[in-house]
Amino acid sequence: METPGRLLPPHFYDMEKIQRTRDELEVGDQDVFIVTFPKSGTHWMVEIVSLIYSKGDPTWVKSSPMWKRSACVEINYAVEMVKDKAKPRLFTSHLPIHLFPKAYFTSKAKFPFLFQMIYVARNPRDIITSLYHFQRQLPFCQTLFSFEQIIESFLQGNPVLGSWFDHIKGWLPMRDSEKFLFFTYEELIQDLKTSVGKICQFLGQELSEEEIGSVAENASFPVMKKHMLEVMEPIDLGHVEPFTMHIMRTGTCGDWKNHFTVTQLERFNKVYQEKMAGLGPDLFPWDQC
Ligand code: A3P
Repeated sequence: METPGRLLPPHFYDMEKIQRTRDELEVGDQDVFIVTFPKSGTHWMVEIVSLIYSKGDPTWVKSSPMWKRSACVEINYAVEMVKDKAKPRLFTSHLPIHLFPKAYFTSKAKFPFLFQMIYVARNPRDIITSLYHFQRQLPFCQTLFSFEQIIESFLQGNPVLGSWFDHIKGWLPMRDSEKFLFFTYEELIQDLKTSVGKICQFLGQELSEEEIGSVAENASFPVMKKHMLEVMEPIDLGHVEPFTMHIMRTGTCGDWKNHFTVTQLERFNKVYQEKMAGLGPDLFPWDQC
């Protein structure tokens, strides 16, 4: 496992805030946590869950940016942010399980954890591709990394984001909890409406067929992109110039095929097989490729 010091860059993460969140945030059975490794579909799942709680009505997602609808445990001071929020409250986190507030899993009052958690995983080759394009938007990325460098840092445990392998292997065993939903970006792409139905069921939200259809329609790539542009606001992290982030790029599976060379793919597959050994074949949709 990576050490916290390596994992958490000061631009985004603040150990003091995480500590305070860990100590002070009271979570309950109506709270929903969306946990992902970056570029796995975080915004998409927040949009879907926001729309489910609005019964498919897009008014909320059209009037409030995602980072105001959901509190990111490790970036914002989540305790203050959600203080006056009506339940259900949405949280997001990119934290690996070993840095996630342990009290949430162990406190007697909260065991087995009361809140619901949705983990979204994605083909790591597409994550690498998405990261490669995304870095260009970040004002604190002084040096742009080549695709080759992004692959290498990903395979070795990215010093900024941590290890994808540790992230997914750490969270995967939580699948046995009925309060934990393991989902993949690929399932969402394959059949968004059926996926929305499954997420509703997990959250205990009874939506009509028509409402489920409206969630899927409003969370589709072109409609969500339009809504996001309408409510886009510069993000102010305090340490760097406020900046805007364009999340919606291609919204497809398999764009990695347009980026990896044969040699890069061989290297990636070799390390992937070593690091994921023992998890069993065909566990994830991308294991076929
Ligand atoms: P790409 O860069 O491959 O297009 P995150 O929210 O974790 O940062 O993930 C961003 C990725 O999710 C981007 O992938 C983005 O296009 C994709 N995404 C966001 N909303 C989507 C949607 N409604 N449909 C499909 N993909 C979506």
